[in-house]
Amino acid sequence: MKTLQFANGDQMPILGLGTWKSEPGDVYQAVKEALRLGYRHIDCAPMYGNEAEIGQALAESFKDGLVSRDQLWITSKLWNSFHAPEDVQPVLEKTLADLQIDSLDLFLIHWPVVLKKGVLLPESINDFVALDDLPISETWPAMEALVDKGLCSHIGVSNFSVAKLRALLKTARLMPEMNQIELHPYLQQPSMLEFCQSNNIHLTAFAPLGSGDRPARLKVENEPILLEEPAIIKIAERHNATPAQLLISWAIHRQTAVIPKSINPERIKQNFRAAELSLSQEDMQEMAGFDRHRRYISGTFWAQEGSPYTIANLWDE
Ligand code: A2P
Repeated sequence: MKTLQFANGDQMPILGLGTWKSEPGDVYQAVKEALRLGYRHIDCAPMYGNEAEIGQALAESFKDGLVSRDQLWITSKLWNSFHAPEDVQPVLEKTLADLQIDSLDLFLIHWPVVLKKGVLLPESINDFVALDDLPISETWPAMEALVDKGLCSHIGVSNFSVAKLRALLKTARLMPEMNQIELHPYLQQPSMLEFCQSNNIHLTAFAPLGSGDRPARLKVENEPILLEEPAIIKIAERHNATPAQLLISWAIHRQTAVIPKSINPERIKQNFRAAELSLSQEDMQEMAGFDRHRRYISGTFWAQEGSPYTIANLWDE
């Protein structure tokens, strides 16, 4: 499996298992099956509500000798309601306890959005805290301290724009080494790729398959369905691959990590085998033409009326 190399020599397997929307009851089997098939990278977050069950799958897999902790890359994230510096370490410790591990490979600030302590999702505008009142520059030193203490090896962010990365680079003592963002042929973000490449920041592509199992409230009418895009189906057929495999391979060919979510054993296997696919420069060029700057996870849930967050100030575009 191809890896992304970090400054200290650590290697992150470029293909991982996504676990957003993998319900408790399903995720245990999915993680065990993925590890059995050879996945060595699992992407988690407390927001997904399933870290304790993932922890059970990990603990059993370690006990059974299926895999050892040092062969695995595990990422988790800091939820929006715990940006206050004093909350950062305790919530990481909760994640470690749930996952039944001693340290994370990578810990990310989940969103550049702050909610009042303990709020899972905002129910009214009173649940929001403006970034000006609790800026990332105050949260970041607490993230850095986790690395100093050996509680995680690398730190980074998620859903950050180039402008927000630039601002963070100005004040950071330890540089963010990852930005996990939505990336797929309908949302290619070429200037983000260029910026991250020239600043030694890796990218992870979430929603690489178009995240079709998003809750209905995160969908809009008549949105294009990535896995049903005729041009994608055509190129996939040329390679005797499925559309999902083509999408995963496309992300890998752009040197971004990619975390397709599945709880289905056949699809978990199919997705893993996408790493074997070889795309030509012509394939990549053709797919570059599919960009529509189309976000499936558009962030509207942060931008309700009266909130300090708007779609414009969230993505800085
Ligand atoms: P399932 O979990 O039942 O396999 P994303 O990673 O973009 O969030 O997409 C996840 C969605 O894509 C889920 O609905 C998942 O369903 C589905 N999915 C995962 N792998 C494949 C595949 N190989 N072919 C078709 N759909 C897939």
